[in-house]
Amino acid sequence: MNLPKQKIQKRAEQLREQLQKAAYAYYVEDNPIMEDEVYDRLYRELQTLEAEHPEIVTPDSPTQRVGDKPADKFQSVKHNIPLYSLDNAFNIEEFANWEKRWKDRLENPIDSEYVCELKIDGSALALTYENGILVRGATRGDGETGEEITQNVKTIRSIPLKLQVDNPPSRVEVRGESFLPLDTFDRINQDREANGEAPFANPRNAAAGTLRQLDPQVVDRRQLQFFAYTLYIPGEDGDRPFHTHQEALQKLQEFGFLVNPNQTICRSLEDVAQYYDRWNEERRQLPYMTDGVVVKLNDIELQQRLGFTQKAPRWAIALKYPAEEVPTTVESVTVQVGRTGALTPVANLNPVQLAGTTVSRATLHNGDRIAELDLHIGDTVVVRKAGEIIPEVVRVLPELRPENAPAVEMPKTCPECGQPVVKPEDEAVTRCVNASCPAILRGSLKHWASRGALDIDGLGEKLISQMVDRRFVQSVADLYQLQPETLVVLERMGKKSAEKLVGAIAASQQQPWFRVLYGLGIRHVGSVNAQTLAQRFPSVDELATATVEDIAAVEGIGEIIASAIVDWFGIPANRESIDRLREAGLQLQGTPSQPETESNAHIQGQTFVLTGTLPNLMRNEAKSLIEKAGGKVTGSVSKKTNYVVVGDSAGSKLAKAEKLGIPLLSEEALLELLEAR
Ligand code: IVH
Repeated sequence: MNLPKQKIQKRAEQLREQLQKAAYAYYVEDNPIMEDEVYDRLYRELQTLEAEHPEIVTPDSPTQRVGDKPADKFQSVKHNIPLYSLDNAFNIEEFANWEKRWKDRLENPIDSEYVCELKIDGSALALTYENGILVRGATRGDGETGEEITQNVKTIRSIPLKLQVDNPPSRVEVRGESFLPLDTFDRINQDREANGEAPFANPRNAAAGTLRQLDPQVVDRRQLQFFAYTLYIPGEDGDRPFHTHQEALQKLQEFGFLVNPNQTICRSLEDVAQYYDRWNEERRQLPYMTDGVVVKLNDIELQQRLGFTQKAPRWAIALKYPAEEVPTTVESVTVQVGRTGALTPVANLNPVQLAGTTVSRATLHNGDRIAELDLHIGDTVVVRKAGEIIPEVVRVLPELRPENAPAVEMPKTCPECGQPVVKPEDEAVTRCVNASCPAILRGSLKHWASRGALDIDGLGEKLISQMVDRRFVQSVADLYQLQPETLVVLERMGKKSAEKLVGAIAASQQQPWFRVLYGLGIRHVGSVNAQTLAQRFPSVDELATATVEDIAAVEGIGEIIASAIVDWFGIPANRESIDRLREAGLQLQGTPSQPETESNAHIQGQTFVLTGTLPNLMRNEAKSLIEKAGGKVTGSVSKKTNYVVVGDSAGSKLAKAEKLGIPLLSEEALLELLEAR
């Protein structure tokens, strides 16, 4: 079709205008005015026209958002107006001091009016418009000089390529924060993990990393967003021709920018404190990360009178939220041994305040994690607290490593019994496999006595420790040989309590076979699986002689569980232990009359999400345990989730739970909750 040039030009202009309006409605106003298909058709029509007539392409055309040529490298650019940073206050008292300071600088103390805004945790951008057209986008850099990333900035749909006013000023400078919405961040990290790439530590790093991508197509796919917060219109009377900051924000909106809607005027310290407290709570419901609030004096003239220090305005301050990730140093590493023999390394830290509590220890999970972190003693590390779980080391800052700092390594022998430890190639966990390791014994006894197992009243952790130290017991079967006279030598153990304890131990001989089975602490055999197994194998002898296939044929029991059972009975010491329990009079046979379930007030009506690999429980088992106690297990984290149970290699569900502030539980914490009454 050979349309006259003028007509083509006109049609292209019309299309650009419609597409621009539609994109604004969609990305800035969050109120779409046309269907995606209609948008796509119009977009393609414009693309075709421009391809056939390259001379009609304008820099503000929506087709120019995503360039197809990757950059070789970025040029550095000097900012026309420097990008200042902000001074920080970490609580309202520090804010009050700041308020006093600025008031003291002025001759006559004046009433102040603040604009409070959210502090978006992203990456600052400087945008330059000439005659209404976006001509340059740059990173902050050191505030004076940044990198020119115009191609990348153009992919951000909430940044107008052309200011939406009829007679734009000849030059406009806009500052704001680009960021990745949390759902986009999750998606990117999922993709990265699926491709074997290291996930981004947080949305801020992800945003900064994305902006410095050389290929604009990649940037486009990442879907960055932008909130504008500063406007300069250089002219004869300076560069801020407005009376108040709010007027500037208003103007930014008229120009077509997205301004964060949660800003408000505060007229007193109390108002500011209220805004800060409110958003410290509500930030978890926001679809993007914020790390505090920014308080700015509204009056531009007052701002000008106060001016700047070397690096920050005197008329604004960032009031930060209590940190959830803080740096500290690692003083030593202790390795704990659990009931299953699993070795868990724990970092002993120089104590720090983290989200309101003092933290002096953080889990390192396992040897693979230590290797991944490349941790050395003396390293500065970033620790994070995730709900109720003990804090963890998120990353190491290797630049701060002291000279000759020794690398942390998992021990080759068990720190409790000195026997060699084993680490299967395909597992992250290192284990002590010495059946008489005191740490394993303590854990086994504690599990044996627990409520879901033999339920021995009064046999707690402290008592167990003493009995193991004094070698009163070397296996669970030894419990049944204890005499009150032996026990009285233990701390705080009178004749009466010793008799009571021996009585409680003897009473446990009546507990049914499935409880004994659970009490044995075979990997993956929790109380639900124990009941299921006891239905099909109503005696220990039947179970001990069953093959993996026999066991895996039981509904709800998979091969992993079946192999764990067969392996367990394959160990002579375990078979010996069964013989001794038989001699001690424990119930090693009998069908459970009906599955024992007990609804539990802590679990009843609560919704759980499971994520990652739990150290002992299989997922189906954790699920049944929760369900039998009256809880519900769902597949995805939402505001309605009450708890997220977190295992190793937990991914986006954990991130989402943290974002929503949902309590996290380790397997151990879940079991405690299940046992609580
Ligand atoms: S105002 C001179 N407002 O915080 C004014 N900054 O810690 C300086 N930021 O580099 C900036 N949200 O990247 C301002 N509502 C907001 C902000 C904000 C996030 C960032 C900005 C700045 C950093 C300083």
